[in-house]
Amino acid sequence: MKRRVRNILRRVRAALAGNARWRRLVLARWKRWLGGIEWEGEPSIEVPLRCDGAGKVFLGRSVALGFALAPRLADGEVTLQARYPDSRIGIGSGTHLSNNVTVIAVTSVTIGRDCLVGDQVVIFDSDFHHLDPVTRNAPNPPTLPVTVGDRVWIGSRAMLLKGVRVGDNSVIAAGAVVVADVPANSIVGGVPARVIGTVPGTNAPTVTPS
Ligand SMILES: CC(C)(COP(=O)(O)OP(=O)(O)OC[C@H]1O[C@@H](n2cnc3c(N)ncnc32)[C@H](O)[C@@H]1OP(=O)(O)O)[C@@H](O)C(=O)NCCC(=O)NCCS
Repeated sequence: MKRRVRNILRRVRAALAGNARWRRLVLARWKRWLGGIEWEGEPSIEVPLRCDGAGKVFLGRSVALGFALAPRLADGEVTLQARYPDSRIGIGSGTHLSNNVTVIAVTSVTIGRDCLVGDQVVIFDSDFHHLDPVTRNAPNPPTLPVTVGDRVWIGSRAMLLKGVRVGDNSVIAAGAVVVADVPANSIVGGVPARVIGTVPGTNAPTVTPS
């Protein structure tokens, strides 16, 4: 039943492609009604929201999706896809996701409070495929939950891959590919991301992310 409704939603969405504001507000409410998304306080939604997984998405209070002054406001979407029935995405209160952010959870992706997530950031908790070419499309690819602490700033086009835990207050530089834990209060950048500094006004980086 839910799959049928989702298919109808997809068609409605395509039909309304010319009226983005109406589309984003109304479809977000329909998705809430379908049980796929819950929020503590109605989010501010500046871009189309794709939220088509079978799992659950939870938004805290005052979450903002999309930013009018950031690039690619009009030709993309925010994707929050909790892919399977047990998959979970949680976004803490006061966190802002810019345009074209993609979060896909097979198990779980949790983002803390008061975070800033730049445009075109990608967060995956799974590789989605195996390394071995013979079994590359087999089920159960490597998958590990991703956790981002509170007050983390993730620069544009960064990627966070499976299993990473980012400590509170940290900064992920633009374009970084994060494949290992990020200590709290640290600045990381590069591919793969390495610690390149300490966030001013915080204590020295602590090795174990909170
Ligand atoms: C991380 C960041 C905040 C650091 O700014 P900063 O403190 O002024 O950094 P600096 O330019 O002084 O560089 C400090 C060091 O980090 C390195 N560095 C800076 N940005 C980097 C990046 N994106 N990737 C890799 N290394 C980087 C510099 O090469 C320099 O290294 P060095 O000391 O060996 O010379 C900034 O580079 C950044 O990525 N900002 C994100 C902006 C963004 O995406 N905004 C929109 C989304 S909200």
